[in-house]
Amino acid sequence: MGIEVSALAEPLGAVVTGWRPNQELSAADRGAIERALRQFLVLVFRGHESPTDAELVRFASGFGDLVKGTEWFGDRVEYPEILPITNRVGDDGIAQGTGGAAEFPWHADYSYVPRPGKDSFLDAVELPSRAPHTCFCSQYIALETLPKALAEPLRDRAAFHAIGPGFDELADGGEQAHEIMAGMEGKRKRDEALGIVRPAYPEAIHPVIFEHPNSGREALYVSSGITRHIVGMPADESDHLLEELHAHSTRPEFVYTHDWEAGDTVMFDTLGAMHRRDGWETGEVRFMRQLSSMC
Ligand SMILES: [Fe+2]
Repeated sequence: MGIEVSALAEPLGAVVTGWRPNQELSAADRGAIERALRQFLVLVFRGHESPTDAELVRFASGFGDLVKGTEWFGDRVEYPEILPITNRVGDDGIAQGTGGAAEFPWHADYSYVPRPGKDSFLDAVELPSRAPHTCFCSQYIALETLPKALAEPLRDRAAFHAIGPGFDELADGGEQAHEIMAGMEGKRKRDEALGIVRPAYPEAIHPVIFEHPNSGREALYVSSGITRHIVGMPADESDHLLEELHAHSTRPEFVYTHDWEAGDTVMFDTLGAMHRRDGWETGEVRFMRQLSSMC
């Protein structure tokens, strides 16, 4: 029996059952997942055996070339495609992954990379007792519902996306950006002492209206978490425009809030569905495996 997809009674999202990570995905199931992803943007896989790292990489790579984000973030992992998203700290005081426990603002994964994130995968390995929610919003609906007078001029615009220096000064960056940068710098210093040279954090300029390569559907492609400014626009004007677009995109009626269960594997269109995460009590560990395919 193949997979089954059930739509959620939400602005976006569906639950997928019947996935067997230890088996190769059939062409029929792969096609069904691809179609469901384009329709619902967020797919919550539930009720399956937890995939091994190798199985997770095999599954995700069936949907495109995978980003090896750990090479920038300095994580010591067997599979460079799997980014540990965690607040866990090793006995040496160095972060064992990326991300702290503070709220993480709206963003699209790897929008700061020249070949940006296309679709993403988040697998919940360990959750705090009160697991923080992850929220998703459709940037396709955001563009479709944007007043024409605001949307049309955006067709000629591009935006600059970056982490790295200044990330923690972003208006929406705040505490989480400080935690992330401190963790990344700790890993970088450890590696420098060992003579391991890590590539610089990437940065990129992308069109404000971006077409998903699989569907050809256009999405609004700016976020409060990672987009720095609109290229060629005075800073005040750019800040004001980004705030206006952000407020429109994240209206509650466009948002699905995911309540995590351990073992959930969530696949989402990271280019066309922005996401954010709540914070949680810092005494508890959250450990997620994150992967992204690239455009
Ligand atoms: Fe993310």
